[in-house]
Amino acid sequence: MRHHKLALCGEHYSEWFVNSTQRAIEKYKMFKPDANILVAVSGGKDSLALWDVLARLGYKADGLYIGLGIQGEIDYSDQSLACIRNFAQQNVPNAQLHVVDIAETYGKTIPEISRASTRGHGKPCSACGLTKRYVMNRLAAERGYDVLATGHNLDDEAAVLMQNTLHWQTGYLARQAPVLEASDGLAKKVKPFCRFYERETATYAVVRNIEYVYDECPHAVGNLTNFYKTLLNQLEAESPGAKLSFYVEFLKARQAGFFQAPADKSNLHACEVCGQPTTAPGRCAFCRMWNITAASGGALISPDAIAVRGDDAFDDVETRVAETVDVSGL
Ligand code: AMP
Ligand code: FES
Ligand code: ZN
Repeated sequence: MRHHKLALCGEHYSEWFVNSTQRAIEKYKMFKPDANILVAVSGGKDSLALWDVLARLGYKADGLYIGLGIQGEIDYSDQSLACIRNFAQQNVPNAQLHVVDIAETYGKTIPEISRASTRGHGKPCSACGLTKRYVMNRLAAERGYDVLATGHNLDDEAAVLMQNTLHWQTGYLARQAPVLEASDGLAKKVKPFCRFYERETATYAVVRNIEYVYDECPHAVGNLTNFYKTLLNQLEAESPGAKLSFYVEFLKARQAGFFQAPADKSNLHACEVCGQPTTAPGRCAFCRMWNITAASGGALISPDAIAVRGDDAFDDVETRVAETVDVSGL
């Protein structure tokens, strides 16, 4: 850890990492010790490390995996689910894992819906982002979780910050924060790893013997965010600590009121089909993209569809989803 000038053995590293996470949770008032937490797990190192750390800190944290139906050379989605099941059985056997399979639930995989819709000019990332945000938010709210936690690390945050700064997207800058409070049916969202470098979360995963998917999503290769990550890595190599100070000093400026979210919240209203908050008139962007109408039976994540307890029940996940989620008429 060059920027901290620390050299630690595996055990002390893991202790440092867990304690630093707890400090971030308290510093940014993310959640209280008795909170009901839903961790969005992708099968990558960051989100699995996050679930592990929260469990070790004694928090009650369940997992949510969204099966996107992305294949590529390594069957990306299948491998991700396999890693998550394996991790959950070994590291958090008493937690619940919710699995929402997008194709089972909504009738198409993410690559299929992106080809069928006008969003994202043929690249699935935009359809994917919209779908993930919607499902995470809706499941967290409907299952009564206090907070939704994601594994975003400092490299992710600094790259998005750079992108938004270069385009002076002040509305996005105002909303980029370690904590987004719940509002109007939207779940509270937190990023407990936002101050960890990517190499730090990777080191924690290795030290803890967590098996994760090394490859990133095949559709993310060569995207703009990765380009900014490369630029920031060059900066960091010349000036250790630059990434952290870029992000942390931004948070201070934001806290001081330099960026104000546009005050158009009044435009928010419930989607006429699914009831989720939206600024669009009528149906929300999600219902429009998936062509969900009142006639096709708007309620898609039925309350008993997806929870599975930690251990042996894992084998039943897909069957249960297929059996219990109503996809008729989609
Ligand atoms: P990404 O946008 O892929 O960099 O992922 C950022 C965070 O979103 C991860 O750390 C996870 O917490 C969450 N996430 C990404 N993909 C999924 C997924 N398929 N299912 C659940 N959570 C996800
Ligand atoms: Fe969604 Fe790659 S398109 S993770
Ligand atoms: Zn809707």
